[in-house]
Amino acid sequence: MHNLILEDMTHKIAPSLLSADFGNLQATIEMVNQSEADWLHLDIMDGVFVPNISFGFPVMKYIKKISTKPLDVHLMITDPTKFIYEIKESGAYMMNVHYETCVHLHRTIEQIKQNGMKAGVTLNPHTPVSLLEDIVQDVDMVLIMSVNPGFGGQKFIEHSIEKIKALKEMILRKNAHTLIEVDGGINLNTGKRVLEAGADILVAGNAIFNTENPTQIISEFKAL
Ligand code: DX5
Ligand code: ZN
Repeated sequence: MHNLILEDMTHKIAPSLLSADFGNLQATIEMVNQSEADWLHLDIMDGVFVPNISFGFPVMKYIKKISTKPLDVHLMITDPTKFIYEIKESGAYMMNVHYETCVHLHRTIEQIKQNGMKAGVTLNPHTPVSLLEDIVQDVDMVLIMSVNPGFGGQKFIEHSIEKIKALKEMILRKNAHTLIEVDGGINLNTGKRVLEAGADILVAGNAIFNTENPTQIISEFKAL
């Protein structure tokens, strides 16, 4: 029964602000507010876990004041468990932690939920889906990285399709409610393919913000 509900659900779109013009943040967020986007995806980087630095809590709080969309926060930092309270205070709806950064992942997931957020676990391209066998039923979402995290505008890694299929099979087998999000190199073409493989949420940065009409592209992603 639950499986049917998951399969019937229309997919969500989460534009990734990383590719936006930071000189016009307010206008960009207002554009997303007016669009058919479901969530707003925020990439937090520390220059240690990934070779790039993006933005932190003060910027998140500003975004929260303007955004009417739930904030889907992707933490590319070495010790996300340390910042659960701050992430909550900065307005996150979904807190995604990387599998590779959490020694006590089950405890971290419980703490995220206790703080009133949805809990997501993210896998780097080299991290197998099979490692989620004993945690998948406890998380609200799994975020499959289809590029190596750190930068927008990279090429989609083809093997991600197999990972999404394997994860979907695991979720259905366990009768779990877990959603699948895919992030990296998503355009209308790869987006369609990952949805067919079992994804529920598409993150897209470059394909949305580096175009003439981002609102239109978001509608096209929703129509896939
Ligand atoms: C990369 C980030 C992505 C990034 C995606 O580390 O997690 O969210 O913004 O950008 P595109 O869609 O351009 O690959
Ligand atoms: Zn991301």
